[in-house]
Amino acid sequence: MACFSLYYSKNIVKHSTKSLGLDKKNLKEKIGWIKKYYVNIKRKCKKVPTVLIKRLGEHVGEEVFIQGWLYNLRSSGKISFLIVRDGTGLVQGVLVKKEVSDELVSLVGSLTQESSIIMRGIVREEARSVGGYEIQVTGVELVNIAEEYPITHKEHGVEFLADRRHLWLRTPRQNAVMRIRSEIEHAIREFFYQRDFVLADAPIITPAACEGTTTLFELDYHGDKAFLSQSGQLYSEAAAMALGRIYCFGPTFRAEKSKTRRHLMEFWMVEAEMAYFDINDNIKVQEEMVYYVIQRVLERCKQELKTLERDLTKLEKITLPFPRISYTEAVEILNKAGEEFTWGDDFGAPHETIISNYFDAPVFVHRYPTAIKAFYMKPDPENKDVVLGADLLAPEGYGEIIGGGQRIDDLKLLEQRIAEHNLPPEAFDWYLDLRRYGSVPHSGFGMGIERAVAWICGLDHIRETIPFPRMLHKMYP
Ligand code: 4AD
Ligand code: MG
Repeated sequence: MACFSLYYSKNIVKHSTKSLGLDKKNLKEKIGWIKKYYVNIKRKCKKVPTVLIKRLGEHVGEEVFIQGWLYNLRSSGKISFLIVRDGTGLVQGVLVKKEVSDELVSLVGSLTQESSIIMRGIVREEARSVGGYEIQVTGVELVNIAEEYPITHKEHGVEFLADRRHLWLRTPRQNAVMRIRSEIEHAIREFFYQRDFVLADAPIITPAACEGTTTLFELDYHGDKAFLSQSGQLYSEAAAMALGRIYCFGPTFRAEKSKTRRHLMEFWMVEAEMAYFDINDNIKVQEEMVYYVIQRVLERCKQELKTLERDLTKLEKITLPFPRISYTEAVEILNKAGEEFTWGDDFGAPHETIISNYFDAPVFVHRYPTAIKAFYMKPDPENKDVVLGADLLAPEGYGEIIGGGQRIDDLKLLEQRIAEHNLPPEAFDWYLDLRRYGSVPHSGFGMGIERAVAWICGLDHIRETIPFPRMLHKMYP
């Protein structure tokens, strides 16, 4: 278009100079002037793009808009430094006061922390600046002036921050955790998609318990008793018989009155269920999934892991396959470590820490005592006192991140177990159909996303792994 206009105008000049009787020199001057004029117009007409801070590297030397919030403001006489955040990162805007209008200087001077602004300026590479780039500010548009912001740049207590979770999320550490969580969830979905698993979402309102009746949130379902789902597993088993290999991914609920750093009342679980998979096939797909997730985070979340000061060597040294030990071997480890632990008891958090400290990678503990596991777990044909289940314990004391196992596929045994666990048989009749019509060996597992995020991010407490945690006696905001 520009070329055409230039050509076109050249011809106009040629014709008009002819008719006006101008000489060649005069003509050259005129063409030069027109060329300059068009280049200027072109520059002026080019739209200034709005870009994400994360993508500034693609716009070095260009003028851009950043839509964000003022994170911090420093002034040193002739220059003001505006640190702006847009959710994707931080960037420093440099305002040289003598180069801009007095109005702009006074506007910037009046900005408060978290005021929303649109900053305009030219992108420069600057290794010493946060994020590696800087903006030479040419304009600032105020969108909203923020009231005095409660979360300042000094240290605040966790209680104070947790009460302001809706604002705490804006800080760089929380931003990094949320981005890693998002990457983890994305990687999991991709992992399953690549392996021909179908996403089959499970219901949240259920008429029956999956993981014991003591940890249920009860609902009134138009006069009937219903519960918030503890796990999508039972529905996943039906879906696996229909679709082969499936996964579900959604919120699950546990009402146990537990206040530990590993417990939430509402957490997200990814659950997979595979027809014709035994305990070993099940373990293999789990370790591949966890390994895939770790590699993805290491590859794509470098900046976030740095913000969290995560010790990367701990994640980098993890290799496949993960170690596997039996429950009985785990008890031996505990006893050797001086713990008084009796075969048949369930592990507490300190026990899991001792066991996992023996290994550099996550460790599978398999064949737990039948008595401490859920009703659906298949007994080991070689030893009926233990089940073909396995939990995955994360390193560095992060505890159990996955629970799973092979399911009972025999109708009579499953009926017997439902009775032994005092579960209402009517509620499980449909589930028993799966054993009546073409029952097959099958297995599955569930990974708590928040526990995985806490481990990968190296966080002390699970409350920072989900945007709005639901904990004992705490559901605000
Ligand atoms: O071990 P769980 O209870 O297993 C199940 O629910 C199976 N039905 C899963 C299956 O086989 N489809 O829970 C699985 C995982 C745990 O390993 C843990 O990571 C997480 O869910 N989890 C919790 N996370 C946070 N807060 C809680 N209260 C949790 N309870 C379990
Ligand atoms: Mg468990």
